[in-house]
Amino acid sequence: MKRKQDPAIEEKVEALLSQMTVEEKVGQMLQVSYNANGMTPEAYEKWKKMGLGSYLHVLGDEAEEIRELAKQTRLKIPPIFGIDAIHGHSLLNGATIFPSQLAMSCSWNPDLIYEMGRVTAKEVAADGLDWAFSPVLCIGRDLRWGRINETFGEDSYLISRLGAAIIKGYEEDGYMIACAKHYLGYGEATGGRDSYDTEVSMRKVREVFLPPFRAAAEVGCSSVMTAYGSLDSTPLTCHKEALRDLLKGEAGFDGFVVTDWENVRSLVKQQMVAKDMDEACKMTIDAGNDMSMNTPEFYDATVRLVKEGKIATEYIDDAVRRILRVKFRLGLFDENRQLPDKSVIACDAHKKLNLELTRETLVLLKNDGTLPLQKQPKKIAVIGPNADNLRNQYGDWTFFTHPGFKPDVVPLTDYYTILGGMKKVYADSEVVYARGCDTKNKADKDITAAIDVAKDCDLIVVAVGDDYEQNGEMKDRADLTISGAQTELVTALKALGKPLVTVLVNGKPLVFGEIAQASNAVIETFNGGDAVGIAVAELIRGDFSPSGRLSISFPYSSCALPCYYNQYSGWHGGKYMDMPEGNAYVFGYGLSYTEFEYSNLKTDKTTYQKDDTVTVTVDVKNNGAMDAKEVVQLYIHDTVSTILTPVKQLKGFEKVKIKAGETKTVTLSLPVSDLGFYKEDGFVIEAGEFEIMVGKNSAEHLTTTITVE
Ligand code: GLC
Repeated sequence: MKRKQDPAIEEKVEALLSQMTVEEKVGQMLQVSYNANGMTPEAYEKWKKMGLGSYLHVLGDEAEEIRELAKQTRLKIPPIFGIDAIHGHSLLNGATIFPSQLAMSCSWNPDLIYEMGRVTAKEVAADGLDWAFSPVLCIGRDLRWGRINETFGEDSYLISRLGAAIIKGYEEDGYMIACAKHYLGYGEATGGRDSYDTEVSMRKVREVFLPPFRAAAEVGCSSVMTAYGSLDSTPLTCHKEALRDLLKGEAGFDGFVVTDWENVRSLVKQQMVAKDMDEACKMTIDAGNDMSMNTPEFYDATVRLVKEGKIATEYIDDAVRRILRVKFRLGLFDENRQLPDKSVIACDAHKKLNLELTRETLVLLKNDGTLPLQKQPKKIAVIGPNADNLRNQYGDWTFFTHPGFKPDVVPLTDYYTILGGMKKVYADSEVVYARGCDTKNKADKDITAAIDVAKDCDLIVVAVGDDYEQNGEMKDRADLTISGAQTELVTALKALGKPLVTVLVNGKPLVFGEIAQASNAVIETFNGGDAVGIAVAELIRGDFSPSGRLSISFPYSSCALPCYYNQYSGWHGGKYMDMPEGNAYVFGYGLSYTEFEYSNLKTDKTTYQKDDTVTVTVDVKNNGAMDAKEVVQLYIHDTVSTILTPVKQLKGFEKVKIKAGETKTVTLSLPVSDLGFYKEDGFVIEAGEFEIMVGKNSAEHLTTTITVE
């Protein structure tokens, strides 16, 4: 249900546009930040007085100052203020910090993610800002890429569902707009290399990478950010087919497009596809970019080129129309626009939602029955480099790391590290701590001290993983093996013969086979935000059954990539000769404290027409003694297709709560159109037989078949 154009708004847009000079129009197409390369304080003061289209990396009250300055310009067009609020208003010290997108995606809970979007919008708006550069809709398919932590995982369908949910949440109350990024194929760059070239055909772009952005357009996302990289050697910053044809044409996107950080300049300096700024500005505007993020020199060059008739006024007008449309829709021109009060920031209701969502992100990867603990331990050892390390727990894009790197800032939020959570939840037990080692420096370890602390405890909880220097832009990682002396630490702790629960605090899937072997249980948290310490401790105590399921596959080795589940058939041998077949942990996997039994998989018919919808039902029984949530997953396989299609693809899921001993009949709807795919000459739904697989993950499921005529 695309957002309908509002005639009243369109009228205001046209009326304003018709009054604007070239300078005023181009001013709307520029977004500047005080920390742009080469920006001086004097220059920034000048830009602030121009009432430009947008400013970024501005926090709170500085926005108010710039808004007042804009009111002194001729047309008083309000700027729009963007910020990287990508897991809550995460750059503001004191805001609610939610789990990262990768962690959130393991909840498979669009409803809670929608609520998280609404809370984030309230906190961003309460801080005087208007625009979150979120969500990331990139597909995390090459685990070496530094920004896996920012994705909703490896599957286009799951990303589409969760992306639509968070965008609806962000934009629901009219406090803020969202930004679907990075358009597109950014996570598929060769070698997982950040901002490098992505060698895929436009067919594959439509098939795999476009659907999440199409879903974003469907729910009326107001902005899209182009990616640093290039598609088959054409930078996204000037990719006319991707921007004008696919996004604004086929997908019907009616908001505005902004480049990524100084990417217009990158056409000249990095990608070398433009000889100078004049050429770069023309290329990006002709291709359909509406706003330049930074690159202040964009302004003079573009004004001159428009006046010389070298850039078409219709392109400038289309860009400014889109920007003004979004600003009117957001109510920025409305003098008495009502915004949330600052008191909503990190209020109890927001913290409560954060804990509820965080609980559902936890994935139990291994459990030999040690969990849930049957009795309260007298003495608990919490060990490891990530046991009490908020920076590593938060991951990227928080007030520690952006917009400037501030490692020593004192957090103002209520937060719980793994240690903090264990102390709070097990208040009647004695809880002791030792760091044991560093996350990556092998020489930085004191395992003896850790053993001394742990040796007379009844339970050992060890938190390992990676750190904020091993994830993020320009931090692609070739070796995914868990680093430093972490494996040595965990195996030494194992030798004490105590129950050993490993908690993973990491920005991406790691290779940690020996640690998994040594652990009685393994809980994956990724970057869990403020409340993860409480959620983990509650899970260990058995307050709830874990309902997190992996949104991304874990390989046996860093060299066994790509490892995403929805691969094609036809691999000669089907495995690496020196590795087990498949993955260490599969897409959709996650243990529960109960056992779910699937039976009676049925479809309402056996033969379908192309415009039908398949109604799939399955019975799911909770065979355990604990009420629990289960993620019922539906995959399809086109048994014969005229071009290769994946051996299985997620095309539906439902998260359901089932009481102990209860059987629930779960119904999933599958439009037959979801069985189609793109060929060179367009979208097809081919007649023939399809397998429908429904189960607890991508490897364990029941199978039935249907025929499409
Ligand atoms: C960065 C990122 C993008 C972010 C932008 C503004 O380089 O690629 O995700 O929103 O710049 O900070």
